[in-house]
Amino acid sequence: MPGGTTFLLRDWYENQLPDGHVDVVQSVESLEHMPDLPRFFSEAFRLLRPGGVLTMSDIPTRRLPRGPREIVAALTQLRVWGLGVNAAATEGEIIALALDAGFVDVRTELVGRRTIAPALRFARDRLDRTRGEVPRTYDLAVRFLLAQVDVIWQHGMIDYLLLRATKPAG
Ligand SMILES: C[S@@+](CC[C@H](N)C(=O)[O-])C[C@H]1O[C@@H](n2cnc3c(N)ncnc32)[C@H](O)[C@@H]1O
Repeated sequence: MPGGTTFLLRDWYENQLPDGHVDVVQSVESLEHMPDLPRFFSEAFRLLRPGGVLTMSDIPTRRLPRGPREIVAALTQLRVWGLGVNAAATEGEIIALALDAGFVDVRTELVGRRTIAPALRFARDRLDRTRGEVPRTYDLAVRFLLAQVDVIWQHGMIDYLLLRATKPAG
């Protein structure tokens, strides 16, 4: 809708919107769930009007797990969050995908220290405050899952990426 906002609850790959329909594509922590990363970017490019902007946040992989402790932590995350193995991508790979799709002025920033670290602290504090108020099995399961995220974060396997890219105006 020109000049307005369109809300759709639909598969990204089946959105059926016309070319150049939107000014902005904003993707919040969704790329890591997408089965086809090149198509994620080509679809964003197609939907944007010339000069339109893609902004997104994502959890890029910085390196693959090494050793049993890291492998368990990584597999737990894949299983719990339903992340696709194919969707694992480094910051450099994500930038390359955006450029390959035709985007220009691709800017990124890694902000895990300002996002992942405080989120983990918040979740742990909250668990401590509600100790005794929730079933013990629930408390233990969540603490176990948090410990796995902590491993992949503290070991430098993931980060938090902000990306902004533009569809050329001409
Ligand atoms: C971790 S959640 C992101 C959180 C959410 N964006 C928010 O701001 O609260 C992952 C999101 O990716 C979306 N997603 C995954 N695959 C998708 C697809 N093929 N099409 C559209 N959305 C998808 C899910 O619906 C889910 O909302």
